[in-house]
Amino acid sequence: MNILILGGGGREHALAWAVKQNPKCDRLIVAPGNAGIAGIAEIADLDIVDGGAVCSFAEENAVDFVIIGPEAPLDAGVADALEAAGVLCLGPSAAAARLESSKSFTKEVCDACDAPTAGWARFTDAEAARAHVEQQGAPIVIKADGLAAGKGVVVAMDLAQARAALDEMFSGAFGAAGAEVVIEECMEGEEASFFVLCDGDNVLPIGTAQDHKRVGQGDTGPNTGGMGAYSPAPVLTDAIADLAMAQIIRPTVAEMARRGTPFRGVLYAGLMIKDGQPRLVEYNVRFGDPECQVLMMRLGAQALDLMLACAERRLERARVNWADDHALTVVLAARGYPGAYEKGSRIGGLSELPETSAQMCFHAGTRRGADGSTQAAGGRVLNATARGATLREARDLAYALVDRVDWPDGFCRDDIGWRAL
Ligand code: AMP
Ligand code: GLY
Repeated sequence: MNILILGGGGREHALAWAVKQNPKCDRLIVAPGNAGIAGIAEIADLDIVDGGAVCSFAEENAVDFVIIGPEAPLDAGVADALEAAGVLCLGPSAAAARLESSKSFTKEVCDACDAPTAGWARFTDAEAARAHVEQQGAPIVIKADGLAAGKGVVVAMDLAQARAALDEMFSGAFGAAGAEVVIEECMEGEEASFFVLCDGDNVLPIGTAQDHKRVGQGDTGPNTGGMGAYSPAPVLTDAIADLAMAQIIRPTVAEMARRGTPFRGVLYAGLMIKDGQPRLVEYNVRFGDPECQVLMMRLGAQALDLMLACAERRLERARVNWADDHALTVVLAARGYPGAYEKGSRIGGLSELPETSAQMCFHAGTRRGADGSTQAAGGRVLNATARGATLREARDLAYALVDRVDWPDGFCRDDIGWRAL
């Protein structure tokens, strides 16, 4: 079959790498892709948030299946447009994608189905929000309601921070996304991510992961999109995963169906775990990046069969073929990230790296220079990813890849996985 993947980061390189290994895949196109993806798939120049353009492209290229990587096309209704055009697609409707695009919507759904989550209140009035914060005290969590590219959440440790966050959000720093602010109880515990496929009714777990959001060693410094991840997450034991399914994920999926907006696609539940009990931090309606890289490393070619079963609404009979393995990915970022950084620096050594079912350096933000060299084109640039019988083995293999990358303008954390190791 002909498959189109939308997106151009490490997540999409990992998806393309797994899909490509499945004999069902005849032709693989990725839009917009990156320099690494160009090595294994056709690259298309396409406005991926334009549903009409994506449908026309799918028709012209006889695309049988579209996998939507990032949230922006989902929020823009690209899955709705493909469904209307009769093209099979993995990714929820815009109405179901509100589980990611509106924090207050998710909280309402949790309340409606009694899913454990942090206590919350929503505000459109700055004075009322300030009064609420003074009354609740710190620590407290302040969130812009809408999509803010991962920057709309402030975990305020004291009241001064909380007041500053409110001032920033109500001053319009996040545009329409910050017109409404959600204020939450600050939960304690250990965070982990739980990934499931949903076909509207049925739910299939496809893996757990933990990521490192802070830029510095020992999980210090500013927040990033993620500096590394590993799977499985030891804290998400089978017993806790069962609780998360029974108390959070299945009730959410049932509530979405009851509302007439069934959830179909990847549901990524961010959980806070304390004393054996999971509570929902947030939902995303897509694979995580870089979490997807470790999930794809572990699932390999069967990932396509599972995603197809999800899109074709036959998840009830789908099964994951689990190996007793571990995967870990290390993000190489441009110096300066998550602050200002330069683009265009040359990266050497990539063509000599091993590319096996246990070691892959996925490209996140790269481009091909006029001289044929691979250049950095973003903040997070490469994902050195590996799989092993133990987490330690996976980590050693991932850092062995890092050591062979010749990129003086890049950096990475050297302690990915420390908590689990
Ligand atoms: P979100 O974008 O909602 O995932 O928030 C980003 C990060 O903020 C999460 O991964 C948590 O580390 C933290 N966070 C969000 N909400 C809460 C909460 N209610 N209590 C504690 N930490 C939170
Ligand atoms: N790594 C976090 C995310 O993809 O949202």
